[in-house]
Amino acid sequence: WTYLALAALGAYVLGSIPFAVVVSRAMRLKDPRTFGSGNPGATNVLRSGSKVAAGLTLLLDAAKGWLPVALVGWFGAPYGLWEGAQALVGLAAFAGHVWPVFLGFKGGKGVATAIGVLLGLSGWLALATLAVWALVLAISKMSSLSSIVAALILPLVYLLGGGPLWDYNRTVLFALVLMVVILVYRHAANISRILAGTEPRVGASKKSMV
Ligand code: G3P
Repeated sequence: WTYLALAALGAYVLGSIPFAVVVSRAMRLKDPRTFGSGNPGATNVLRSGSKVAAGLTLLLDAAKGWLPVALVGWFGAPYGLWEGAQALVGLAAFAGHVWPVFLGFKGGKGVATAIGVLLGLSGWLALATLAVWALVLAISKMSSLSSIVAALILPLVYLLGGGPLWDYNRTVLFALVLMVVILVYRHAANISRILAGTEPRVGASKKSMV
């Protein structure tokens, strides 16, 4: 438990690094919290007009979810840390992004970090979820809707694809479901806009939103 707590704490602090803000500052762009949806995430950084900054944000926010999960996978076994511990450490990194210690606990929606966590847990799980995300994005052109649908389908994908149904890891399932609940909850404003028909499409300007 001590090792798990230490790993989770490290993951939380790493997850707290708000790369949307860091990258925007480094590239002399506006702080993503001041325009568009106000969300410190890759989608909103894209609204600054810089695809490079948005891509970097996506990559780094995903990396901070992937790295702690991968590290526990590589080195955790001698400390009694297995797949369940990987998932809990990933959940801690995700929580860091959503409630970052460095931004007064006001963070993002966790999509990129969740993708990183999935990648650390299982390549196929990440790929299957990304495929759903890309499909919904291609149809709807709404980043938020794609994230919500992919997230809601994720636990099912895990249950169906992880081998025999009785073989799944309950801790992993618990961590995934909790991540999904938080992620969808963080999209509350997006859900209202989707229902009202006012959610902007990717590529369109959202400068008037805040
Ligand atoms: O990554 C978050 C995305 O799903 C929605 O972002 O800025 O449109 O609220 P945003």
